[in-house]
Amino acid sequence: MRDERLSCGSRSLILSVRLRIQEKLACVLSNMLGTEVIENGLIGSDLPPAYDDLYEDPEELPTPEDLSEMLKEGTKDSHTKAENTPFVKDFLRGNIKRKVFELVTVAIYHVYSAMEEELDKHQDHPALAPLYFPAELRRKNALEQDLAFLLGSEWRQHSDTAPSQATQCYVERIHAIGRTEPALLVAHAYTRYLGDLSGGQVLKKVVQRVLKLPASGEGVEFFSFPQISSHAGFKQLYRSRLNATDLDKEMCERIVEEANRVFNLNIELFEEFEEIMKALPAEENVAGVPLHDGKGDVSKCPYYMGQGASSSSTICPLHSLEVLLRHPAVILVVAVAAVLASFSIIGFFR
Ligand code: HEM
Repeated sequence: MRDERLSCGSRSLILSVRLRIQEKLACVLSNMLGTEVIENGLIGSDLPPAYDDLYEDPEELPTPEDLSEMLKEGTKDSHTKAENTPFVKDFLRGNIKRKVFELVTVAIYHVYSAMEEELDKHQDHPALAPLYFPAELRRKNALEQDLAFLLGSEWRQHSDTAPSQATQCYVERIHAIGRTEPALLVAHAYTRYLGDLSGGQVLKKVVQRVLKLPASGEGVEFFSFPQISSHAGFKQLYRSRLNATDLDKEMCERIVEEANRVFNLNIELFEEFEEIMKALPAEENVAGVPLHDGKGDVSKCPYYMGQGASSSSTICPLHSLEVLLRHPAVILVVAVAAVLASFSIIGFFR
């Protein structure tokens, strides 16, 4: 009994350390990308009471046999593969063109329409009912708003809104399992929704900055989950619901297999987008944040815009400082000042 308690305690410790490491990693990532701390922060945010005590009872900690752990472990390689596709890597570097982002939005609109249609249809299925969170997770309406912003109010008539080949394959798979084996939809919901609540937040900031979309969120509503106050807390809740579903081991394994298939369907979409990216002519100012001279109209500065600043100043402080620190005379003055300061510190201690 005592040993069991000890091992539960260590598991609890390991879980909390692991969560902190993941949080730090996400933070480092967002910092590397020049983005703010991930929205609704993984970092420093207190979980609301509804999610806070989820794992209070150590018996509830996930084990390798739990579906949430099976999915996380079982799709690790696919996740790495998806993250490392040229399209995703380029996207993270800020190399994204508006036209391609429009096509991404169209593709995921078709995917979510199909997935949410099937989830609605099978909301009472024992495997899906505990994971049915339409108010918190539904993306279709947000994507419709994004398309109206990106393509105009007549977007449904726009020639670009037909599903591409890879999109069609993805959509067909969703409807096929909806017809034959709805329990496998768990894999689709898990892969998309938990992904959107994780790396998706980084992508939102990149898109806003590079495509100069309004800081108020138009065009990227897809990435916002206004009904979820803590992404980390909600993901914990979702994982605990995955673990509470009454599925036998064989079905859990098939769900993991389907999740890997979902990753592949997404990778096929990315490959399609990459080809389109390559075929398009270069756009102005798409490759990251251009450094201007710190003068002129700050509202045209993507960094400044991303901050949503309301200052009436016409000088962007960040760029002014960066430009100043690149000037050779300023570098020399700073270096001399540093040497003099070190001499006086040494003198002080003598
Ligand atoms: C842009 C590249 C990506 C980045 C930077 C990224 C980042 C992350 C991070 C930091 C987490 C851990 C969050 C946590 O444990 O709370 C995560 C989890 C996850 N990501 Fe990604 N991701 C990316 C691409 C993708 C793609 C393309 C998909 C699927 C289409 C995906 C699906 C998932 C899923 C399902 C999880 C949850 C894993 C679990 O806890 O079971 N990610 N991602």
